[in-house]
Amino acid sequence: MTTKKRSKPAAKLALLGGAPVGKVVYPAYPQFSKRALERAAGVLRDGKVIGLSKKHSPEVAEAEEALSRYHGGRHVLATASGHAALVSGLAGLDIATGDEVITTPYTWGASISCLLHQNAVPVFVDVKRDTGLIDPDLIEAAITPRTKGILAVHLYGQPANLKRLRAIADKHGLALIEDGSQAHGAESAGQRVGTVGDAAGFSCMGGKVLATTEAGYLVTPHERVYWKGAMVGQHMGRWGDPGFPADLRPYVDSLIDTYRVTPLNAVLLTEQLGLLDGRLERRRFHAALLRKKISSAKFVRMPDYGKDKPSFHMVTMTFNPEAAGITRDTFAAALKAEGLHAYGYVPSPVPDWRRLQWQGYKGPAVPWLASLKQARTDYRGMALPNCRWRVANAIETHFDFIDKDCSKSIGRIAEIILKVEANIGALRDHERVNGSASPALR
Ligand SMILES: Cc1ncc(COP(=O)(O)O)c(C=O)c1O
Repeated sequence: MTTKKRSKPAAKLALLGGAPVGKVVYPAYPQFSKRALERAAGVLRDGKVIGLSKKHSPEVAEAEEALSRYHGGRHVLATASGHAALVSGLAGLDIATGDEVITTPYTWGASISCLLHQNAVPVFVDVKRDTGLIDPDLIEAAITPRTKGILAVHLYGQPANLKRLRAIADKHGLALIEDGSQAHGAESAGQRVGTVGDAAGFSCMGGKVLATTEAGYLVTPHERVYWKGAMVGQHMGRWGDPGFPADLRPYVDSLIDTYRVTPLNAVLLTEQLGLLDGRLERRRFHAALLRKKISSAKFVRMPDYGKDKPSFHMVTMTFNPEAAGITRDTFAAALKAEGLHAYGYVPSPVPDWRRLQWQGYKGPAVPWLASLKQARTDYRGMALPNCRWRVANAIETHFDFIDKDCSKSIGRIAEIILKVEANIGALRDHERVNGSASPALR
């Protein structure tokens, strides 16, 4: 006689009154080595806290040289933030008032505010559904005689398609700008981010893959972009930095945005960079483990990266609401109740944001609206179907698993996802009665 195996009933969801799986435990973040802390204390003890230029601060020079080696010998300017690095890069490329730059509507606002602060005009094209990265197929149709550049964002540490983007930029004589703020060390088809664009900005604030306290850096293959970029944020040249171009000297003054890095963060940059590759290996190992553990999931999936190597600042997944029969927000609320902080990182397409819409604007004064009005932009209600789909259906979670073995935490994330999936029927009933949960935002 054969006995029919009955599947175990799924444990009740915490959202519906059951016991939660338990909070996902994350390593402390950021982590600084003993040596980094000692060096940072030394900078303070010795009062070497001003980072006016490479010449005046050996700590700044050391960080820039180390970062330059990491980026294939390109020029590197350490800055106070990722925003500062991006603005410096754009200024270095002479991208300013009225210049159009084709970019993504699905990002952190600072990818776009760098353009706005230069009075440049963002031109938004849609993204790929699976990753949320700019769709190279849509770029050429958006090029006009005023287009000066393409700004791609390596969001969540996923590398944008650099080979395609470089080819499009070269074909049309445009600058390629990379926002690598979330993607230190990521690789697109063997090319490290920051080594392909004409300028790349990276954020090194405390939550990033290369974390200091607040800092950033610009990478560029063009020496002149480096010097012009440096002029935006620090009165370099005034103290006779070696190599400063003579023809730029008449324009050196203190009409600057203060974007200089402190030597305190410069030593953190150097020391954290030394640990980056090992930490990236652990992020990738843990991401691969998660992918394997949730391979049986029906409603959520991680993008397929092929041979690309993301840096996994965050993990992004897409949710299939048709198959699941509930919204992402209800699903994410159930994940959260079990112990996983899951959310949609981008709350709405950037062009929807009021501070980009000059028509009838009544908010606090912002310096870029006159340029947008002059360019007759109209960002209201742009279609952007894939971007809007992702805003509704992406699930992100942060992923700073840089300790050697975080497999227990990864196992818990997978257990939570699979438990919620196993209870999808109960969640459908719950949503039918109570409506969708409120938006699962960060
Ligand atoms: C994609 C992206 N671009 C730019 C920035 C700006 O960096 P920062 O905060 O260091 O100015 C960030 C930081 O949060 C970011 O995530």
